[in-house]
Amino acid sequence: MDYRQLSAGTDRTREALLDAARAAAASAYASRSGVHVGAAVLSAAGRIYAGCNVENAAFPLGNCAEPAAIAAGVLAEGGAFRIAEVAVWAETAGSLCFAISPCGGCRQRISELALGPGVLVHFFWPGPELSSVTIGELLPFAFRMEARSATPS
Ligand code: THU
Repeated sequence: MDYRQLSAGTDRTREALLDAARAAAASAYASRSGVHVGAAVLSAAGRIYAGCNVENAAFPLGNCAEPAAIAAGVLAEGGAFRIAEVAVWAETAGSLCFAISPCGGCRQRISELALGPGVLVHFFWPGPELSSVTIGELLPFAFRMEARSATPS
């Protein structure tokens, strides 16, 4: 599929993101958990970037799929990269894993670069039906460095 110049919120974009996430999951290095995760992000510029999880014998050193996809986007588009839509796909032993949503840390990562709280995130959870929810629903009250101190008057 031609992934160029997609718009957020369309059926075509959702399918393209799921295709890209699924393809990325096939490349995962999941030597410990056996859970092959792929993530795909649509940038505000209308391009799709994908990434997969990479595990390690020293367990905490493993990386999730979402930051790999985000890093690919930042590498290609620079600091102006922003996320317009996301899909996550997970498989184990070649079968769809249907209770994988972005973990807490990945929610924060997506939130930081999302165009806004309404950015859609697609994943198969809690069953084999697709869930499509916003990053604001996944991570309300996200941490922001722009917090202001209250000045007593
Ligand atoms: N994983 C991801 O890639 N993304 C998530 O949001 C949740 C967890 C990976 C990490 C680990 O390699 C495997 O899934 C099992 O936890």
